[in-house]
Amino acid sequence: MSMPDFSAKRLLTSLLCMAMLGAGWNSVAQDRPAPGLGQAISEAQLDDFDLVAPPGGSGFPEGSGTAAQGRSLFNQRCAACHGSEGQGTSGNTVLVGGSMQSEGTPLRTVGSYWPHASTLFDYIRRAMPADAPKSLDNSEVYQLTAYLLYLNGIIGEQETLDRAALLSVTMPNADGFIDRSQLH
Ligand code: HEC
Repeated sequence: MSMPDFSAKRLLTSLLCMAMLGAGWNSVAQDRPAPGLGQAISEAQLDDFDLVAPPGGSGFPEGSGTAAQGRSLFNQRCAACHGSEGQGTSGNTVLVGGSMQSEGTPLRTVGSYWPHASTLFDYIRRAMPADAPKSLDNSEVYQLTAYLLYLNGIIGEQETLDRAALLSVTMPNADGFIDRSQLH
């Protein structure tokens, strides 16, 4: 028997086992009254968790902003930890500069390392500012994303960043990754 057949058979067997276990679990659960714990999550609450905005372009909200608008917001909400020019206040808070082509160990920043500009929007909206995550509205997140792209020399100061503009940005290190998902 060839290896692929063997692993396919194993996969089928484990799927069958899982299906049988699943069926058993369901019938046990049906015989018992619900424990009455917790409460259903509301759509509004779900919006706070459903923040995935991947490079493929789904999940981006309305809104827009420029780097010029983002500057003062960055100074108010971000500079204490990241420095007013994104130069950082510690090793892991540097947001600007670096080059993946440097001779020594490269400085990996949003500008030098991240392959997709969309990740910046996704990350800021979900996690920053670190002392008050999810406290920014969507246009503020577009403004701050624009400001960080501007500080990294990727877009202009007056360029309006919205969903379409963000998705069309090509990051300096976009080709610096190898897709190994298809290798066997
Ligand atoms: C209280 C301190 C603090 C504040 C305020 C703060 N950050 Fe951060 N930020 C951090 C820390 C610490 C990290 C590194 C987290 C890690 O490595 O897991 C980080 C990481 C980041 C990163 C990812 C950097 C990378 O290369 O992985 C971005 C982008 C970012 N912050 C943007 C912002 C923006 C925009 C604001 C303002 C809205 C902000 N931060 C406010 C502390 C802060």
